[in-house]
Amino acid sequence: MTQLVILGAAGDLTSRYLIPALGELGGAGALPPELTIIGVDRQPWDYDEFRHHLAQRLDSQAATILSGLRYHRGDVTDAETLRAAFDPPDAPAVVYLALPSHVVPGAVQALGALPLARSSRIVAEKPFGDDLHSARRLNTLLHEVAPEEQVFRIDHFLGKQTVQNVLGLRFANRIFEALWNAQHVEAVDIVWDETLALEGRAGYYDAAGALRDMVQNHLIQLLCLLAMEPPVTLDERSLRDRKVDVLRAVRRPTLDDVRRHTLRARYRAGSAGGTTVPAYVDEPGVDPERRTETFAAVTLFVDNWRWAGVPFRLRSGKALGADRHEVRVRFRPVPHLAFDQDQDQDPQPNVLRLHVDPDRVTLEVNLNGAGDPFRLERAGMAVVLAPQELSAYARLLLDIFAGDPVLSIRADEAEEAWRFIEPILDGWRNDATPLLEYPAGSSGPDEGDRT
Ligand code: BG6
Repeated sequence: MTQLVILGAAGDLTSRYLIPALGELGGAGALPPELTIIGVDRQPWDYDEFRHHLAQRLDSQAATILSGLRYHRGDVTDAETLRAAFDPPDAPAVVYLALPSHVVPGAVQALGALPLARSSRIVAEKPFGDDLHSARRLNTLLHEVAPEEQVFRIDHFLGKQTVQNVLGLRFANRIFEALWNAQHVEAVDIVWDETLALEGRAGYYDAAGALRDMVQNHLIQLLCLLAMEPPVTLDERSLRDRKVDVLRAVRRPTLDDVRRHTLRARYRAGSAGGTTVPAYVDEPGVDPERRTETFAAVTLFVDNWRWAGVPFRLRSGKALGADRHEVRVRFRPVPHLAFDQDQDQDPQPNVLRLHVDPDRVTLEVNLNGAGDPFRLERAGMAVVLAPQELSAYARLLLDIFAGDPVLSIRADEAEEAWRFIEPILDGWRNDATPLLEYPAGSSGPDEGDRT
């Protein structure tokens, strides 16, 4: 690849994730040789202003990436703008669509009018469409520009080490996989609570909301890795086939399921992450009439032999009191307890926790207590993982440059995940579930753990 063209170069994704990741790779000498990075956006910036905008998020080593950057001002949905930005237009390129989802189709159409080199790759970001229909339409448009092997749909959670470790833990150990089913697992919680609030992203977030921003993609990917059958190999086909099997087994919620198993809320004013946070509706750029949720909790069921009846509870919210990023696999209680415990001291079931940031795995067990050997105590076995060497985005960019789609989302995956999210969106639009409120800095709406 000789050029990386970032459409949406003035946006949050570019400054928050992409450029720092490119800086990391540049610092590690891992970028393709002679790579030109070209940013395209509408902002009336010159090169220095562009560089200044990006420099704020880079350390000195990563900042060396800035010297090789170019900026082209223009409308990313206009083929002539793109023709002028690419250098030259027919050289192999990685085209990164760092754009709000409503702009993506127009940009892809404009790309279709260029003489793109055959080996060029297109990178799309979640959410892939806003619903099933738009996801299908987007896939059709993308396939008119590049074959599926050259389309990379990015979900950066797949580049996180703890997320990838679900595979190692499950499929390289005998002891967990034997218990990994409805017979032994009572419930699975996938939690992504953030102290971060809107961070000036109303332009994107107010149209997306927590369900589309986090649950439909990042948390569903975790669900797939947790629930999938063992793949034959870890190549892109085996791994992604097994993930799609899970998606196809997820029950499409009825209206009654939406009422009983989903919850949505938005934050009121408060203090989170050490800063004062205005009410979501008072954040600049937010339209209160949209009634966008900043907290979503849904319980899904994977209707197959392995998981019948086990609730998978997914939740994510912004402006909460603490950052809590974890998966909890809660096992069923022992069938009979020989220990003479008080009623209110029954031992808790085993819980396996995978924490992200900091990355660690803990297994909560019951052991004989220190004093009276016939009394039980709770103990935890913990493994703390070394910090991730490359950030999630840097890892995924390496795969893109290498042309390996194993960690990218396949077209059918992107569509299938909407099949069971769409009824929730419809139900919420029709107020099947009330829009609750929670103070910024709290643990979410009172009912937050009840879905
Ligand atoms: C992004 C969402 O995809 O993921 C953000 O758009 C969210 O709203 C972020 O804050 C969380 O990921 P990370 O890696 O920053 O914890």
